[in-house]
Amino acid sequence: MSDHGSHEVAHRPAAGQELADPVADPGLPPHEPRLTDVDPKAADRAERQIAGMFGVATILVIAFVVLYLIVPRHSSFLNLGASNLALGVTLGGALTLIGAACIHWTRKLMSDHEIVQDRHFDRTTSESRDEAGETLKRAAVESALDRRKLLRRSLIGAMAALGLPVVILLADLGPLPGNKPAHTVWRRGVRIVNDVSNKPVRPEDIKLGQLVNALPANIEELKEGAEQHAAKAKAAVILVRMEEGDIRAMPNRRNWSVGGVMCYSKICTHVGCPTNLYERVTHHLLCPCHQSTFDLSDSGKVVFGPAARDLPQLPIMVDAEGYLVAQRDFTEPIGPSYWERG
Ligand code: FES
Repeated sequence: MSDHGSHEVAHRPAAGQELADPVADPGLPPHEPRLTDVDPKAADRAERQIAGMFGVATILVIAFVVLYLIVPRHSSFLNLGASNLALGVTLGGALTLIGAACIHWTRKLMSDHEIVQDRHFDRTTSESRDEAGETLKRAAVESALDRRKLLRRSLIGAMAALGLPVVILLADLGPLPGNKPAHTVWRRGVRIVNDVSNKPVRPEDIKLGQLVNALPANIEELKEGAEQHAAKAKAAVILVRMEEGDIRAMPNRRNWSVGGVMCYSKICTHVGCPTNLYERVTHHLLCPCHQSTFDLSDSGKVVFGPAARDLPQLPIMVDAEGYLVAQRDFTEPIGPSYWERG
């Protein structure tokens, strides 16, 4: 232990003394030219290989566009989605070939002279920045792009073609939704059903302070699949019951509740999370995503958080058999705000 300690002390530099390099700089090994550096035929062959890869990539990108237009979206091939398969293979192949061509280009034709760059710890000087500019210019020359026209043109062709899928995929953004977001499947007389038991709900089924998640009964009439899921997501509601005296409804909403039972959209008006954290004493409904809080006793007003709009309320009544039904659809779009919303 003591030997080791004295060894360390012996190598510690005295104050003001520079720490010597512990290992001598071995320098660079001598540069070894590649076959393409010494044999013009090999260099031309490499250029043709690279240009071939860029060329095939360009063809694959064009094939992507054509297949996007002609392969039906829902057709299948080998139990896989034919459209996805065709688009994936062509675009994936094009990107792979462009990547491989760039690697081949770097290894065979770009300058491979080893350089040493010292590490700087301070802000670079203007000389260093000029030097960096010069280095970039030199790199442009050493990339061989200026003197190898076939390589340059095929690269430009492949990169330009790569923009086509981006443009063509914009078609998938449409069509515009029109006024669809403004409507749900709620209609006058549609029963409100419990979203677990699927049974219609009477006002007396809901206890004071209770919250029930519910859906419109007519959701079952829709074809199963995307259409039904979308309709469900928009029409989901919550039912709450409070003392009638606690309700501070706006004058035009006095007849929107039944015996203290009120119905609101379940979709938060901030960015659309489902809300159902109900605080029975304050009648506040909290969205778990970003803590927007709505006062259900006061027409769903926002009392806290980032939501910019009150929670839409569904006007309800009872039908001849005493079940809760909607008076009409929501009077405003549910969920987050969007540009076209009036
Ligand atoms: S989605 Fe409800 S607060 Fe953000």
